[in-house]
Amino acid sequence: MQIAMGCDHAGVEIKKEIVQLLQNEGHVVIDCGTDTSESVDYPDIAEKVAAQVMDKQIKGIIICGTGIGISIAANKVSGIRAALCNDVYTASLARQHNDANIVAVGARVTGPGLIQAIIQTFLETKFEGGRHQRRVDKIMALEKQGKTDDGI
Ligand code: RB5
Repeated sequence: MQIAMGCDHAGVEIKKEIVQLLQNEGHVVIDCGTDTSESVDYPDIAEKVAAQVMDKQIKGIIICGTGIGISIAANKVSGIRAALCNDVYTASLARQHNDANIVAVGARVTGPGLIQAIIQTFLETKFEGGRHQRRVDKIMALEKQGKTDDGI
């Protein structure tokens, strides 16, 4: 599958590993950077990955030190449901119940082996629909609140 991926400077090393792993499995990774340890602002990376996810209707992976900042930023983009996952159970439920389209992980919080397992679980697990669709619809309706008809 096609997958958008990005990280800030805290996640460069683990991103390299994950990109390689996913490519070895036959996935096509759209790498939105960053690629060096030079400091960057995680909202800029979140914006790039979120744009790819929405444009191509694909899944995304985002990484910062904790996964917090980059997931908060991604969730500001219309249509994005980014789930910060520190364990495999959460990654599974983020797909089954929340139909998350982006998984966020923290490179300074979670070890590389667990990050791999979280990402594999996220990519392989299907949304269950049913009562969860109604709830996801309500989440997405919240995006429209506070906006005028002009979208302002
Ligand atoms: C960068 O130092 C750090 O703040 C960032 O990677 C992330 O943890 C923010 O939530």
